[in-house]
Amino acid sequence: MVKICCIGAGYVGGPTMAVIALKCPSIQVVVVDISVSRITAWNSEQLPIYEPGLEDIVKQCRGKNLFFSTDVEKNVAEADIIFVSVNTPTKTQGLGAGKAADLTYWESSARMIADVSTSNKIVVEKSTVPVKTAEAIEKILSFNSKGINYQILSNPEFLAEGTAIQDLFNPDRVLIGGRETPDGQKAIQTLKDVYAHWVPEDRIITTNLWSAELSKLAANAFLAQRISSVNAMSALCEATGADVSQVSHAVGKDTRIGSKFLNASVGFGGSCFQKDILNLVYICECNGLPEVANYWKQVIKVNDYQKKRFVNRVVSSMFNTVSGKKIAILGFAFKKDTGDTRETPAIDVCKELLRDRARLSIYDPQVTVDQIQRDLLMDKFDWDHAVHLQPMSPSTVKKVSIVWDAYEAARDAHAICILTEWDEFKTLDYQRIFDNMQKPAFVFDGRNMVNVKKLREIGFIVYSIGKPLDPWIKDMPAVA
Ligand code: UDX
Ligand code: ADP
Repeated sequence: MVKICCIGAGYVGGPTMAVIALKCPSIQVVVVDISVSRITAWNSEQLPIYEPGLEDIVKQCRGKNLFFSTDVEKNVAEADIIFVSVNTPTKTQGLGAGKAADLTYWESSARMIADVSTSNKIVVEKSTVPVKTAEAIEKILSFNSKGINYQILSNPEFLAEGTAIQDLFNPDRVLIGGRETPDGQKAIQTLKDVYAHWVPEDRIITTNLWSAELSKLAANAFLAQRISSVNAMSALCEATGADVSQVSHAVGKDTRIGSKFLNASVGFGGSCFQKDILNLVYICECNGLPEVANYWKQVIKVNDYQKKRFVNRVVSSMFNTVSGKKIAILGFAFKKDTGDTRETPAIDVCKELLRDRARLSIYDPQVTVDQIQRDLLMDKFDWDHAVHLQPMSPSTVKKVSIVWDAYEAARDAHAICILTEWDEFKTLDYQRIFDNMQKPAFVFDGRNMVNVKKLREIGFIVYSIGKPLDPWIKDMPAVA
């Protein structure tokens, strides 16, 4: 029986291993983590992450060929294939701060593997890492090898949160990078055999190590670039009276462009896009390619601009002041169907509104109260100037209430900001909401999901990103 151990029981490791266990009954899969609370949650009824379809799979496999454990060393020692999917945040201090990936967790995992291993191992990079990380890991392992043969593979994850299980069941492609030596090729084949249990052979691509690592960064950069492109267009649409949905529909019909990832929004979030682009920027700079670095950096700058632009619309529409006004925030997660808030645009939007002294009432169907409070208290890193921006003071954060219902959030509010595209926001009783709000009542739709015409008929003043402006908003002078 092949034994797989995955280090890191997070958004990537958890769902990926659950699907491998489901599709490969002959393989034993153990997911290990140093976080006792995470592992306890994986072994309980309340999984630590929300992902549609995940709970069913875990229930089917847990205790059979899927296990969650904090005994990292024992399970690593026993495994044939070790996936490493620990976190690789952006460095906040020292060389490359604000851009480079912090590989501390990765390196300590590699050293631990070297310490405890007594048999040959295939070590698979699953978390996104900078190009050539595999080489560094290979060095750590081979210098400490005690005669053990380690093969390093890069097998980047392309799943998106909220659709992780579908993405894993039916991937566009599985990418496996490895050394072009006989041993490297053999390791690639071993991992290929795992995926071949359910993925058609022609969708499993094999490359050299660095191509695989770079492809992950490139794919995320391309996806994020599409969003920044359409978001840049949304500003021009508002200025000219064009409608960004019509523009992106027309543009996306070109089969060379395609229709996906062209939805204008308040900005992209998530743990990958910004981090991976910053990584790419840093690698370009280190390789003496400042023009290429600046090209990709602009994708993030447009994203920051979009969030700022949204807040400016809110403030300028409401007579240039939100001081003391209650604003309902609908949605805090970085996208629907996840409770994840990493890099969510909601953090920046809420912080800016709080700086303008608004009172916020936040509702999200999946994000915990603790998480929202932590996100708003934490300081933000300004990657352009390598400094930490001031964290929110606890007294400012007191201006935030977190509620469990959209109607409660909107009661007596002056405005609603929709920041995540949760389906339930489409079917809210907006008449009921309007009746309980201060007047004039504003809706700022950061995800273009409400029926603008209907809401205007009810009496709302509505702002939708990239759409022809409400006459009211058009007449308000924009704040600089
Ligand atoms: C992304 C990649 O899609 C995935 O392949 C990779 O493995 C990890 O990073 P994820 O961050 O989970 O996945 O979500 P994704 O669906 O890509 O959305 C990222 C952000 O872009 C979200 O904030 C989303 O709301 C936003 N977005 C997406 C838009 O604003 N407009 C769009 O058209 C699409
Ligand atoms: P991702 O979205 O990439 O899956 P997460 O932060 O959700 O990232 O998950 C990474 C997990 O890796 C965390 O649960 C963290 O506790 C775990 N981790 C980090 N370092 C180690 C380590 N050395 N050994 C075991 N687990 C680790």
